[in-house]
Amino acid sequence: MKPNAILFVDIDDAEITRYTYREPHFAAAKEMGLLCLTAALQGRQHTERLSADSDKVFYVESMTLDALRDLVHTLLHTYNLRAILCHAGHASASGQVGCIVAEICQEIELPHASSRAITTCNNKFLMRQTLQQHGVRSIRHALCNNEEELCSQANLIGYPLIAKPPFGACSVFIKRCNNWAELLAHYQAFTAHYTHSNYTDFMGNQQECVTPKGEKYVSIPGKSVLLEEYIDGIEGTIECAINQHTIYPVLINEKLILTEKSNTVLENLLITPPVSFSPSEQEQIKNYAIACLNAVGLNNAIAHLEFRMTSEGPVIIEINPRLGGLFVNSAFRDLAGLNPYQLYLSILIQDQEVDFQLTQACKQAEQATQHYSMIVMYPDTNGHFKGIENLHYLKNQPCILECVSYTNDCYINAEIEEHYLIKCWAKVEGASHAHTLHSNMLENVKPIIIPESDLIS
Ligand SMILES: Nc1ncnc2c1ncn2[C@@H]1O[C@H](COP(=O)(O)OP(=O)(O)OP(=O)(O)O)[C@@H](O)[C@H]1O
Ligand SMILES: [Mg+2]
Repeated sequence: MKPNAILFVDIDDAEITRYTYREPHFAAAKEMGLLCLTAALQGRQHTERLSADSDKVFYVESMTLDALRDLVHTLLHTYNLRAILCHAGHASASGQVGCIVAEICQEIELPHASSRAITTCNNKFLMRQTLQQHGVRSIRHALCNNEEELCSQANLIGYPLIAKPPFGACSVFIKRCNNWAELLAHYQAFTAHYTHSNYTDFMGNQQECVTPKGEKYVSIPGKSVLLEEYIDGIEGTIECAINQHTIYPVLINEKLILTEKSNTVLENLLITPPVSFSPSEQEQIKNYAIACLNAVGLNNAIAHLEFRMTSEGPVIIEINPRLGGLFVNSAFRDLAGLNPYQLYLSILIQDQEVDFQLTQACKQAEQATQHYSMIVMYPDTNGHFKGIENLHYLKNQPCILECVSYTNDCYINAEIEEHYLIKCWAKVEGASHAHTLHSNMLENVKPIIIPESDLIS
């Protein structure tokens, strides 16, 4: 009998991994008695971390549909492949691997998310066009590829507005612009410096997209910018799971502190259950999330949606077809009693228990009264990050359940993207306790960053 296995397609070859996603899925898969196989690009640098937790690593000549399909067909001779997965929440310079994985699953009849839905989520322009087509509340927006288009579209949208890459992630090059001078300066900084981002890869390759109306648009990394009407209101996230086509809005996080830097917007403090949204608003948020997910057609997935609560109701910021970052995994565990990695695998292998499990989890999260908080520290200056002074101050606090610090000894650009120098998951009494923990952290714990000017001299 062929052994049951899952295949993870890994494209994160950065020196410092950009996300921890394969490892916890593999840990969950092993507990479920599944072998863990990895597919990666031949010639990649950091192979040791793949072999560390994979039962076997297979290399492909290119991250293309053809090359991955060939590999999968070879593997099928030896293994009973139960699921193929990857970090589907962003594009990459090798294309949209999430879509390639979905297409292969479709061909060999493995449960998967729709490839069109993944593209629609990852391309924020296409996401907005699709919501509009389905009559789901959204905002004025435009995709622009040069300064002339920016100027004329910005006048139609009106200031203040948000300018961001259509395939954006990790808050790279996002700015609220109050006038044309600010927008132009942001666009020039983006085109000049986008290759300096740690996340350039996430902005993808050149992608053509066809809107639901049949119009063709091209997105060019480092050139294309999405303009959006500025959404005013308290920001939150809603974490959902979709078993086949049934959507479960599991829990809501509220963002208590957000900061706008020169070319990025950062989230510093979150709380769950939320404190500002009334029960009826929470109901509205859940229904709105369901409407958004139905419009983009996402199925068989975990989804992380961001929104702002406006006077007209919630308005979407983005739909990620993957588990949220920071401590969304811990929120699933502590508020809903779910291991999200095991959950995702159970969805993919179509475990019969999943609907029951998710119904229970939603109830548990809805009845939760204990608050939890995500607390983040970001760098204030560009430079070489050398470590953190007094980290034990946080580690010694009983209410801080988890505390993770960034890898030392690396260069940091503080103004264009997010770098979590420290992130904590804490049990809190409420919003004011969360604020106190956050300000105590800033007062007592100090990052050591050698500024750029000192590095040059
Ligand atoms: N139209 C908008 N109106 C108001 N604020 C916005 C808008 N779009 C983005 N923002 C702000 O910028 C932040 C980052 O935007 P977005 O989520 O689209 O980018 P991202 O790169 O995918 O971020 P991340 O991966 O960090 O979640 C949002 O959380 C929000 O605070
Ligand atoms: Mg976001």
